[in-house]
Amino acid sequence: MNVIVIGSGAREHALCRLIEKSYLCEHLYCFPGNFGISQIAECKNISSINEIIEECQKIKPDLVIIGPENYLSENLAGKLRELNFHVFGPDAQGAKLESSKEFMKEFCQSHGIPTARSQTFISFDSAKTYLESISDSIVVKYDGLAAGKGVFVCSDRQEAIDACYKIFEEKIFNKENNKVIIEDFLEGKELSFFTLTDGNNYLNFGSAQDYKRIGDNDTGPNTGGMGTISPAPILNEELMKKIQSEIIEKTISGLSKDKIDFQGVLFFGIMVDKNNNPYLLEYNTRFGDPEIQSISMRMNSDFLSLAHAVATKNLEYANIEFFDDKKSICLILATSGYPDNYPKDTIIKNLHDFSNDDRFYIFHAATKKIGQNILTNGGRVLSLVAMDTTYEECRKKVYQIAQQINWDYKYYRKDIGANF
Ligand code: AMP
Ligand code: GLY
Repeated sequence: MNVIVIGSGAREHALCRLIEKSYLCEHLYCFPGNFGISQIAECKNISSINEIIEECQKIKPDLVIIGPENYLSENLAGKLRELNFHVFGPDAQGAKLESSKEFMKEFCQSHGIPTARSQTFISFDSAKTYLESISDSIVVKYDGLAAGKGVFVCSDRQEAIDACYKIFEEKIFNKENNKVIIEDFLEGKELSFFTLTDGNNYLNFGSAQDYKRIGDNDTGPNTGGMGTISPAPILNEELMKKIQSEIIEKTISGLSKDKIDFQGVLFFGIMVDKNNNPYLLEYNTRFGDPEIQSISMRMNSDFLSLAHAVATKNLEYANIEFFDDKKSICLILATSGYPDNYPKDTIIKNLHDFSNDDRFYIFHAATKKIGQNILTNGGRVLSLVAMDTTYEECRKKVYQIAQQINWDYKYYRKDIGANF
């Protein structure tokens, strides 16, 4: 098969690794990709939807896999399907589960999926009046895509009012037609769960726990994710049964009732309360980054054949296996200063000293090669992933390599996989 992966992060590097090692893969492209990905796939510096479609028409791939959410919400998948390409990733209608919090909330309500109680507001004044009438901790969410920055977990009323002010009056995300969802704060532990679906059938893909804050012990601002461990330690049999019946099955049947033909992966962001009950915090309609980096390491099935089954509606005949006796950890190396301001074009001096294998891999998120130097090109730069029999063994490996990487601007959390 000739396969095109769309995207340029460590998530796409992890997907490319799985695809490239499949015996079904003849040629692998990644647009635009990055330096790390270019070691295993042919990268081309194209990223607009029109350019991607043109390139697909030239290459005529057997499968296109779309990584990031912005392409999905702009309907790249739908446009490619109209041209008869097989695509892993939902059309814009399915992607709305992620790109509109209001749509997600209505979907949950109409299909009885447990989630935090919420209300939608379209003006600052109405949101403020509502906030003045309540006293509990509250979460304010911008309705649209916001690269992980659209959720404000507020400890008091004033913080919530300030968040609404930023969205409606300062218009930090969008110049017009803003909407805000105000919802109850849920206390508990989070996990990320993934399920593949071809629109008719589904297959559970696995779990991970994401460390979202920049600082150790979950302190400081939220980030795109500073590390993950897989499987999620809190996922016991009883909880899995509840997630299956209360969230996964209701979502799949809801999609079918609402005539949303979803071909891709559903990512359930779940909060588990002290009674071991799961609540859906969010849907994403693509693989999680950095979740897929750790989950993919434990995979013992041919991912390309699974992705193709999703895109051709043959999931009924597919199965999926993981190394169930293995754990994995992904540690993110970021540029100092992230998630605020950080320098670009800093040099990582010794990346060539480290080799990848089935138990340890360095995925690149933001690297480029200029002359003989490997330079950084963003905030989250590398994903170090190790697989072993215990989380402790995985920790030893990723932290040993993290220390050895010679990069003046390196920052990483010290507690990934240490306490959960
Ligand atoms: P979301 O993009 O909706 O998943 O929100 C991003 C993060 O904000 C989540 O991973 C949670 O850590 C937190 N969060 C979102 N909604 C709630 C909620 N209702 N209660 C507590 N924390 C939340
Ligand atoms: N790790 C969370 C995300 O991919 O949105």
